[in-house]
Amino acid sequence: MEAKKVIPGGNSILSKRPERYSGKIWPTYFKKAKGCEVWDLENNKFYDFAQMAIGASILGYSNEDLNKYIKKKIDLGITTTLNSFEEVDLAKKLLKLNPGFRGVKFARSGGEAMSVAIRLARSVNDNRQEIAFSGYHGWFDWYLATNLQTKKNLNEHLLPGLDTLGVDKKLKGSIHPFSYNNTSELSKLIKKNKKIGVVVIESARYDYPEKNFVHKVNKICKQNNLILICDEITSGFRVSNTGAYRKIGFRPDLVVYGKGLGNGFPITAVVGKKKIMNAAKISFISSSNWSERVGFCAALKTIELIENKKVWKHIDLIGKQIKKGWQEIFEKYDLDISVSNFLPLVTMKLNYGNKNNLILTYFIQEMLKRNFLVSASVYISYSHTKKLVERYLLESDKVFKKIAYLLKEKNIKKEINTNIRSESFKRL
Ligand SMILES: Cc1ncc(COP(=O)(O)O)c(C=O)c1O
Repeated sequence: MEAKKVIPGGNSILSKRPERYSGKIWPTYFKKAKGCEVWDLENNKFYDFAQMAIGASILGYSNEDLNKYIKKKIDLGITTTLNSFEEVDLAKKLLKLNPGFRGVKFARSGGEAMSVAIRLARSVNDNRQEIAFSGYHGWFDWYLATNLQTKKNLNEHLLPGLDTLGVDKKLKGSIHPFSYNNTSELSKLIKKNKKIGVVVIESARYDYPEKNFVHKVNKICKQNNLILICDEITSGFRVSNTGAYRKIGFRPDLVVYGKGLGNGFPITAVVGKKKIMNAAKISFISSSNWSERVGFCAALKTIELIENKKVWKHIDLIGKQIKKGWQEIFEKYDLDISVSNFLPLVTMKLNYGNKNNLILTYFIQEMLKRNFLVSASVYISYSHTKKLVERYLLESDKVFKKIAYLLKEKNIKKEINTNIRSESFKRL
């Protein structure tokens, strides 16, 4: 309550709002964190089987190697009138990991980097500045403008209920959503609207795309001379040492990285083809904090650790373990819950309509008592061990057994001692 008085609407990403978990009982603030363990302000320890800093911590919290390296760099000074030379090393590294690309621009948040990418794409397709997109891409006006047409336009793209208050109304009609994996929707959109010059997609979030979708996205973009942006802010570095687009087969012109890139230290990057990146020589794209040293160093060290430890293989292993464990539990208790196939963000899909949030709230409430932070998804990190997952599954089993019973008895609501979670964006 105190926080809401001084920080209207709450700070940070929407996905950290306690209302999205279990309002009153969710710890909200942390004192310290290590690996996947988090201590709240009352010194209660929790295992993070929820969002791992909403995907920003791919190695785990307070990674020792990374912290040691960064601390040394801090002592050398983090920002001066001159630039940090590590930006060149990081640019070279990212170009090596993304063959065929020629330039890199850096920013500090994912939304910011996406805005850089959109600016560059629009600079090149100057006479076709409208955008077709699917997925979530941050809080900036170019994206939120989607809801100027109808309020519910963004509801199918991760975050329902986003309000357009303050968004420039002149942007109405500048951006058009299509559903992930829906080739005909994209084709129709492009045929109908000759002003679209840019296509934006998340390479993967909950599921991998169908082969035909990937093929068609590439083909449509090539035939119509559209710039394809793959947003890898969620998927990057989780299925290999680079973007998921390479494994999947998308052929983007621009790729955007964030979150895991710096293991929580703010650093994001746009990597792109020469023709598009050259627009950055002309278009005014500039910010003071973009040359700060820690971000570049964090990214260089994080990538090194990801590669040395083959972190994506561990993520896959743990993802499979959680998926299998969940499926066994849901089958055992005859629960109508399926599991997504993009393992780095393994997600349970509940099929109980308006009871979904009751079930999840109860799950969160009961798992908190067992010292686990949980949600419908687990953002897997290198710090999740097989042994800890066994414990998590054992506790989840007990809770889902009770859930199955309560659903049969039709009294799950009575057993909830907190406010029911809500996914929608709401005024706080
Ligand atoms: C795919 C994707 N794009 C963009 C963003 C925005 O990034 P940020 O929250 O760092 O601004 C997010 C954040 O969740 C994301 O998942």
